[in-house]
Amino acid sequence: EHAVIGVTGLGVMGRNLARNFARHGYTVAVHNRTEAKTKALIEEFGNEGVFIPAETPEAFVASLSRPRKIVIMVKAGASTDAVIEEFAPLLEPGDILVDGGNAHFLDTRRREKALRERGIHFVGCGISGGEQGALEGPSIMPGGPKEAYKYLGPILEDIAAKVDGVPCCAYVGPDGAGHFVKMVHNGIEYADMQLIAESYDLLRKGVRMSPAEIAEVFRTWNTGRLESYLIEITTIVLSHMDPSTGKPFVDVVLDQAEQKGTGRWTVQVALDLGVPVSGIAEAVFARSLSGHAEMRQAARILPGPTGGGLPSSFADDVEEALYASKVVAYAQGFNEIQAGSAEYGWDIDLGAMATIWRGGCIIRARFLDRIRAAYEADPNAPTLLSDVFFAAELSTAQRAWRDVTVAATRRGIPAPGFSSALAYYDGLRAERLPAALLQGLRDYFGAHTYRRVDRDGVYHTQWERLGHPEVRVDV
Ligand code: 6PG
Repeated sequence: EHAVIGVTGLGVMGRNLARNFARHGYTVAVHNRTEAKTKALIEEFGNEGVFIPAETPEAFVASLSRPRKIVIMVKAGASTDAVIEEFAPLLEPGDILVDGGNAHFLDTRRREKALRERGIHFVGCGISGGEQGALEGPSIMPGGPKEAYKYLGPILEDIAAKVDGVPCCAYVGPDGAGHFVKMVHNGIEYADMQLIAESYDLLRKGVRMSPAEIAEVFRTWNTGRLESYLIEITTIVLSHMDPSTGKPFVDVVLDQAEQKGTGRWTVQVALDLGVPVSGIAEAVFARSLSGHAEMRQAARILPGPTGGGLPSSFADDVEEALYASKVVAYAQGFNEIQAGSAEYGWDIDLGAMATIWRGGCIIRARFLDRIRAAYEADPNAPTLLSDVFFAAELSTAQRAWRDVTVAATRRGIPAPGFSSALAYYDGLRAERLPAALLQGLRDYFGAHTYRRVDRDGVYHTQWERLGHPEVRVDV
């Protein structure tokens, strides 16, 4: 008997993905560079389905039915290239290599092109949901040749999470599109987590609630429009007591956030594409700031106001601010997907992306169904904020949103996520922006020219001449 699909790289994610395929009745070939992991998988979970363990790449490839479908689950970067080089020579035209790691989409574009020239389909595939998602149903974002999706799609849709019976897996677009969307997913994840952390900080230092009390607040929020995986696990982490000291877990963990890089990529790419993802950028910078122990130590001498003094009803305002800022973060992420799609000609369906993020992934949230509806109503909406539903929500939230940023500022509690989200909202809705002055300054010192509100053309003011006469320079 031949395997329908194979998984190479049996770390936690790879192992759980292989088990997920097996549990759905697919015969799965499994392979790992060091054989011990393959053996352990068979010993521990061999009874969950039909596995074909392979000791060598040759045996692994030989055990697969055609077209061969191989999912690579190794650490993103050089290991992925090494594994591709190991397997590609053993494959035949039409076979499919899937990279399920968090690869940079430009690497995926390069790999896809190189493998296409060798007749092999390369599918850069975002997979979200952590260990549990991989096992019980992740959100899957496959890119690459559409031809490959014919064979791969039904299997991936089968093992993906389902929401209202709809699989959280859809073809994203050519070459790097799948990994691009996964990258932006992670950027939104960073922003979402930062906003949750700021909410906690405000309740802790502003209202002086205990972590356990704050957990209760989050538990209530999770019954409403904020219902999401990240809010749900926040209640668990906040109520956890450290077994060795009996203190709240959040008080014994070093407050320096780490990152593997996908959030940073989201911002780097956004800078290149010219998309203002300020909320995601603030989240990346907040992690970076937290990690600068020396700077933080040195700055401890700086004065600030004392916290406290906010009533417990302030929590309701924080809920509004969190919701509104979260809408901004998602709006920015979707704009980046829109821009990437235009730049690389991917034709990504934003409504479909919102649909497959409703379940399985880390940022799964009830309100994604609203985002789906918004993009289904207007696939090319310039911003999610002006969708009728979200516009109404934001207009209700803005009073509390402003109060929360004011309260944070007054009490010296850093809330860069909330503040930047609000500044973005105000920036977009402003009739006039001070960018006109920036243009004037640029024209003054560098003759960089400007356009006018009342006439077509490109102009320069001769600042050095008496009376500063203006000349049109594009004729
Ligand atoms: C997911 C996650 C996952 C990512 C972690 C860690 O969708 O399942 O995004 O892919 O590895 O979130 O990211 P950081 O270490 O950068 O926080």
